[in-house]
Amino acid sequence: MEKRFYIKTFGCQMNVRDSETMAALLHQAGYKSTTEENKADIIIINTCSIREKAAQKVYSQLGRLKKVKQNRPGTIIAIGGCLAQEWGEEFFKKAPYLDVVFGTRSIHKLPELISKVKFGMDKVSDVKSCDYSHLSIRAIPEEGQVSAYVTIMQGCNNYCSYCVVPYLRGPEISREKSDIIEEIKFLADRGIKEVILLGQNVNSYGSNLKGGVKFTELLREIEEIEGIERIRFTTSHPKDLSQALIEAFRELEKLCEHIHLPVQSGSDRILKAMNRGYTKADYLMKIEKLRSVCPNIGITTDIIVGFPGEKEEDFKETLDLMEKVRFDNVFSFKYSERKQTKAASFPDKVDEVVKTERLRVLQKIQEEYTLEKHRTMVGFTYNVLVEGKSKESPLDLMGRTRDNKIVNFRGSSELIGRTIPVTITCAYLHSLRGETAT
Ligand code: SAH
Ligand code: SF4
Ligand code: F3S
Repeated sequence: MEKRFYIKTFGCQMNVRDSETMAALLHQAGYKSTTEENKADIIIINTCSIREKAAQKVYSQLGRLKKVKQNRPGTIIAIGGCLAQEWGEEFFKKAPYLDVVFGTRSIHKLPELISKVKFGMDKVSDVKSCDYSHLSIRAIPEEGQVSAYVTIMQGCNNYCSYCVVPYLRGPEISREKSDIIEEIKFLADRGIKEVILLGQNVNSYGSNLKGGVKFTELLREIEEIEGIERIRFTTSHPKDLSQALIEAFRELEKLCEHIHLPVQSGSDRILKAMNRGYTKADYLMKIEKLRSVCPNIGITTDIIVGFPGEKEEDFKETLDLMEKVRFDNVFSFKYSERKQTKAASFPDKVDEVVKTERLRVLQKIQEEYTLEKHRTMVGFTYNVLVEGKSKESPLDLMGRTRDNKIVNFRGSSELIGRTIPVTITCAYLHSLRGETAT
């Protein structure tokens, strides 16, 4: 009988895309996928380690997996992703019932590692590979899928002092432009309308490629691909956000008016300690440039509160920056110490209680800003790309505006995959409600 696999994914969009690659590889190797873990012969956990909470989420799965192994000893359990990269073979000590541990650059080997277990090997691991060939493995879009992730680069050379990514994903490597273009054509041929380009720092795309290909060149080529209607990308690093990329928002029709531009802090002292390479004034200048080129651009960001040494006045600087920018949305986190990183050895750690309070204050303020922004959209009509059925009601559809706002509205499923005008009728914190305007 065919063996079935189940993949559970934690972490960022890159991990989601990596899980698609794992699924594609296992399909090629003759396995079938299942959405029910209790019917799976192979369980794969794709992990994240960005903050302690992310790691905890994975650890809390381990107890459950132990029981799975006790009840169904034939089940193969594999653990991959960033936390697996961090722990390596140590993971077998933590959880002896695991069969496979594989790292972020060993994904292409997954079928081989699983076969070794099938043929009787005990505790198989590969966390030392430095191979990026999995980046070129395509995922086959599902029936009715509208939007697809495309990884354009992996790794990071920035070494922000709080961040584990450079240690777990390795140095920054960009895929060949022609390889990316071919993948997007393949997706367009299969009905995909929107691509979301993924990289830790897309602005430095191409720096390792011959001839120094620029990110904007890649965007321009994607603009020409028939069938693709929308282009998005994430993440941009403020220090590398070039004037050419800012101009691209005006020049390229398919490039959606949204940028995720993580600022992390509004305090120059903290930004320096974080090794971010820009000041509050530099950041504000980039925002001004973006808005002068593209007045309606949606801007979102990431902010960390309670970085070591962050005083009340530093936090005030962050709130002041938020007041000045009025982000569409902010993803905010309490600083979480990661071993390996430089900041782990920094003095003046901020008390947990203080961090919690700062996060609460920040989030409350941002909720007001976000709601205010959403309310200004009521009564206006926007082009919405319909992505699928709404999670809220089976009669509703869900789509996004070009500036990345989620809109729910009544409509029939024939509209999925089409871009239609929707008039906003109601504003909520996380979404908008609308009516088809035709
Ligand atoms: N490459 C992206 C971010 C990747 S991680 C960039 O450079 O912007 C996503 C977010 O997690 C970061 O922007 C940061 O806000 C947060 N983050 C990363 N490490 C963290 C840590 N140790 N503690 C708290 N938040 C962290
Ligand atoms: Fe981490 Fe900084 Fe690289 Fe982003 S740019 S992945 S925050 S080291
Ligand atoms: Fe997590 Fe690794 Fe992504 S640590 S955020 S899964 S790059």
